[in-house]
Amino acid sequence: MKRITFFLSFFSLLLVKAQQPLAIPAVLSGTSFNLNVHDTTHVFYSGFTTLTYGINASYLGPTLIMNKGDSVSINVNNFLMDTTTIHWHGMHVSAMNDGGPHNIILPGASWQPSFRVRDHASTYWYHPHLHMMTNMHVTRGAAGMIIVRDSTESLLNLPRTYGVDDYPLVIQSKCFDASKQIQINNASDSVMMVNGTINPFLNVSAQVIRFRVLNASSERVYQLGFQGNLTFHQIGTDGGLLDAPVALTRLRLAPGERAEILVNFSGLNGQTFTLMSFASELPGAIYGATQPGMGPGQTITGYSQNPLNGADFPILQFNVTAPTSTAVISIPSTLITNTAWPVSSANTTRTLTFSPVNMGPTAIQGPFLINNTSFDTHAINYSVPLNNTEIWTLTNQSPIAHPFHIHDVQFYITEVNGAPPAANLAGRKDVVLVPAMQTIKFITRLETFCDDSASYMYHCHMLPHEDLGMMGQFVVTCPAGTGFAEEKFEHASIKVFPNPGCRFVNLLSVNAEKIISVRVYDNAGRELSVNTTAEESGLIVDMRDVEAGIYILRVKTESGETNQTYVQVK
Ligand code: C2O
Ligand code: CU
Repeated sequence: MKRITFFLSFFSLLLVKAQQPLAIPAVLSGTSFNLNVHDTTHVFYSGFTTLTYGINASYLGPTLIMNKGDSVSINVNNFLMDTTTIHWHGMHVSAMNDGGPHNIILPGASWQPSFRVRDHASTYWYHPHLHMMTNMHVTRGAAGMIIVRDSTESLLNLPRTYGVDDYPLVIQSKCFDASKQIQINNASDSVMMVNGTINPFLNVSAQVIRFRVLNASSERVYQLGFQGNLTFHQIGTDGGLLDAPVALTRLRLAPGERAEILVNFSGLNGQTFTLMSFASELPGAIYGATQPGMGPGQTITGYSQNPLNGADFPILQFNVTAPTSTAVISIPSTLITNTAWPVSSANTTRTLTFSPVNMGPTAIQGPFLINNTSFDTHAINYSVPLNNTEIWTLTNQSPIAHPFHIHDVQFYITEVNGAPPAANLAGRKDVVLVPAMQTIKFITRLETFCDDSASYMYHCHMLPHEDLGMMGQFVVTCPAGTGFAEEKFEHASIKVFPNPGCRFVNLLSVNAEKIISVRVYDNAGRELSVNTTAEESGLIVDMRDVEAGIYILRVKTESGETNQTYVQVK
């Protein structure tokens, strides 16, 4: 019944909303990237101007293409009226470069992380991670894709020409009000879009096409597949290629997860295929299924009125056209060799149990806890020694599935309720959906970066859950007597030393400009009052009265420029 109602409303939507060509985000590549995060407007519906956040664009951001081994620097300018952060989801970077809730970028300031790309060829993404505000910033449109290439992937006969035989598909559901403004925190996310295009179509060539699919929705889980059950092959998980392509007709993708898939359209010239979410097939207790909780009594306000829930609905239509001259026409039989850490090599096992704050029918509305605690900016939940190999056991004792994400590392799933993972989940992962009342274990190794005072997050990637506290943090501690993260944080134009440092911090302009003033903020964005002493070459900041931790410095130089940098006070 719901499906019928849905198709009626879908077709009536078609009357007002004709199919649109799929937008393909612009590309930035090389080793230095400039991202301008700004308040802007976008036309999703003709005749309506929608307020959005965009990154170098009116909605979403460019696709960043990076090569493994390159040292990259990124200049993030925050032109929003609000503080934000940008996190490199899935990438192995030091905590100070990670863009978590502590690496805040004040309005009008810029942030310059730089790091060596150490990740395997795969699809990653970037998005704001401001404490309690991630959902709002991402839902408004601040997010983009990152493609990492490496020499192993390059040797394989795979499509990799962006926008020709290799396409980004950023899938989102959204709620618009009557004046077509984006609504936040609303279970009425009934409008589907891909790359910001509502009701999209894409002309694809009759050959093997690669899709990098990202679920960038706040909460919704998709059960992807083609109408008519065309077989496709998953070749990659969040953090790398699989050992071999896995033939599928359905692919479940939870918020934060990525999957690379190959679709062989060879010989299908002139035909049309629709990528769907077969959400009617999702078992209960998953956001997107008919029932979001474990029983009919458990619900979320507005959920049952949303026509997408429990329905089969279209995501993107493909029209197959003539092949290109350099077409890849077959699916390779093998890809790479993944070597998971042996379970016997684990030094530590940690158990994380998810539970609702409220019991009873409102349990699934949240908030949710991890090990009975809510996120506390000042509490470090785990201290992990550098190079520790760990098994994390995730037990969901709440009546809705949660996509669990950890920063810094990729992991391998070792057990799903005691059994090995399905073939398409056996690769490198950084998000895993933990269904209600189930247990998933993964193994990972916390290597390369240590920093006793800068933390990494782990959290549920349903953004309202994250914002309401379903998050924790860990530090990777350095061996006694050694320093800190291999890659330090330095602003291009202001030098801060010693850093990490003692209680008198020196600031120097690299361009030999005079420093006029400095303002110091803690990682919650509160300004502190500090004394400074002007020196001939720079400024000395007295940090004797502050607690150990990371502070943001906004430094004004004589040219009027404001630079944002950090100091770590020991
Ligand atoms: Cu994509 Cu901590 O997030
Ligand atoms: Cu959750």
